[in-house]
Amino acid sequence: MMDQSQKQNSHAILFEQPRIGHLTLKNRIALSPMTRTSATEDGLATEEMGRYYARFARGCYSLVITEGTYTDETYSQGYLNQPGIANQAQADAWRRVVSAVHQEDGLIFMQLMHAGALSQGNRYTDETIGPSSVKPVGEQLDIYGGQGEFSTPREMTKNDIESVIRSFAEAAGRARDAGFDGIEIHGANGYVLDQFLTDYTNQRTDEYGGSTENRIRLHVEVLEAVRREVGEDYPVGIRISQGKVNDFYHKWANGKEDARIIFESLAKAGPDFIHITEYDATRPAFDDGETLTELAKRYTHVPVIANGQLGEPAKAEELIANGKADVITLGKSALANPSWPKRVMEGEPVEEFDFSILQPQAYIKEHEL
Ligand SMILES: Cc1cc2nc3c(=O)[nH]c(=O)nc-3n(C[C@H](O)[C@H](O)[C@H](O)COP(=O)(O)O)c2cc1C
Repeated sequence: MMDQSQKQNSHAILFEQPRIGHLTLKNRIALSPMTRTSATEDGLATEEMGRYYARFARGCYSLVITEGTYTDETYSQGYLNQPGIANQAQADAWRRVVSAVHQEDGLIFMQLMHAGALSQGNRYTDETIGPSSVKPVGEQLDIYGGQGEFSTPREMTKNDIESVIRSFAEAAGRARDAGFDGIEIHGANGYVLDQFLTDYTNQRTDEYGGSTENRIRLHVEVLEAVRREVGEDYPVGIRISQGKVNDFYHKWANGKEDARIIFESLAKAGPDFIHITEYDATRPAFDDGETLTELAKRYTHVPVIANGQLGEPAKAEELIANGKADVITLGKSALANPSWPKRVMEGEPVEEFDFSILQPQAYIKEHEL
């Protein structure tokens, strides 16, 4: 039996205070972005969402990253009832979420997302766009009300690309003005930026296609534009992955060399953090041992946030202790444990995730408030 003092010292490394930009986090545990499609039809964040997010701050997550939030009133929306920050009314609606989290002494970053070819529910248009006219693999997500195959997107013109870049920057400005503590650009999981990075969805022959340097260009340009909009001192980072919501086990074709080019390119744009999501963050990214977070740390020299099956405290702690990440985010384990940091700090056991919480669809349930 552990006595109380030993209990309170458990996993101490998770409760150190890392820095992201000018911010000091009160521990190394953050909430992973999770789409819950609980906004109004016109993309307004609700009071219920404020209570849902505040619960994680109350449970001592140092940082809440919002669900992917769409950036414009044309092609970015991915799911019906997804929240947006594409206009002032949507930005204003987020203020109640921001203040609910701040009242619990938490920090909150907004994740900005453009769905591109994976859009399966968009109140502004039925057409989808992507780097090339390639039908996405897999099927629409049923937890967000989709069914069957994705549409084949229209190939984006230079104008489309410019307007995507502009939409991220303008949305970031609105998020900063609404009180968010920082921005995460969603560059992962198969959405539009990742569609540019992914060899089989990007068949372009211009400066955005072909080499890895070209395929990561849009991420870099979005980061630069957001940085210009929000200023040097405002925390901005980007999320990157190999896997996708519609292609879980995808790997970068040139392994470590791709990782070097991708991370060095991102680093040049001056992010305050890189958020890496892998199926299991502790597994080798490619064949020879290193995790993707280690590679990100080596090539960017900025704080790295790790995500993917880190709900077991000892596993999360080991990743940090071995210098492979600075912060961890929890997704499904957070849904099962809205007070995970508090529980771990106090030596209490954590619950297993039960998929029924996302059934019949992913919207927020009454018992989560
Ligand atoms: C219901 C649900 C919604 C998600 N929505 C998003 C999202 O909006 N943006 C994002 O980057 N990742 C999203 N993800 C992925 C999670 O952030 C996380 O990467 C994934 O669940 C793996 O982490 P875990 O093993 O801790 O669950 C979502 C995951 C779930 C389960």
